[in-house]
Amino acid sequence: MTVPEHVAVIMDGNGRWANARGLPRAAGHRAGARAARAIVESARETGIRVLTVFAFSSENWQRPRAEVRLLLDLFRRTIQRELGSLHDNNVRLSFIGERDHFSAGLQRAMETAETRTRDNDGLDLVVAVDFGGRWDVVRAAREMARDCAAGRLDPDGITEAVFGRYRSLAHVREPDLFIRTGGERRISNFLLWDLAYSELYFTDRLWPDFDREALEEAIDWYARRERRFGRLPEAAAPGR
Ligand code: IPE
Ligand code: IPE
Ligand code: MG
Repeated sequence: MTVPEHVAVIMDGNGRWANARGLPRAAGHRAGARAARAIVESARETGIRVLTVFAFSSENWQRPRAEVRLLLDLFRRTIQRELGSLHDNNVRLSFIGERDHFSAGLQRAMETAETRTRDNDGLDLVVAVDFGGRWDVVRAAREMARDCAAGRLDPDGITEAVFGRYRSLAHVREPDLFIRTGGERRISNFLLWDLAYSELYFTDRLWPDFDREALEEAIDWYARRERRFGRLPEAAAPGR
């Protein structure tokens, strides 16, 4: 079976999962963190090389302050609690997004995790926090403009390949499979450039219920796709 090398996930539906059980949204987010932990383990065992998860979007700041605080606290505690076992399992952790708005404590936790796992070469786990696809494109454009102004980059030399190197995900291959749980069929300002040729998989299952079996279903679905990248299907291609 063809296993996607890079899987990018929008982990959505924590709030609805909690609501359905008469629990506060916080309980949904905690269950979501447990599901994320389990999926990282399944991804490793399945042979996925890169897993990118969307934990907090540029737009999520617009939620009530208490929920934002809860999410960021949970995020910091989860990194600190899981770091040891991630490292023992050869996982390289990195974060993409605009981290300047986070507390000093959270920024430190992220740096510690990145530094400690930097040389690992097992699963690449990328966590998108305070991330937005538009932010990433604009940031890349700004960096390129800066390099042009400093004479390090020739504007005529800006190609797709050059632009690609300024993206937050430049250190990993583009996602092969995109998964969104929670029933919505939208990108919600997650990766934009990077998803240009990803296979898009949507499931109604809420994130806290997304287990190993659900991941395998998504991988099965992926394995049945024919990725043509604009070419003709293999069988129809003439002269082969
Ligand atoms: C996803 O679950 C977690 C984050 C966006 C941080 P939601 O909190 O969006 O859950 P629903 O969509 O309200 O069910
Ligand atoms: C997307 O989910 C962001 C994350 C999962 C981190 P949202 O719940 O914020 O997306 P919308 O609001 O339904 O588009
Ligand atoms: Mg949601």
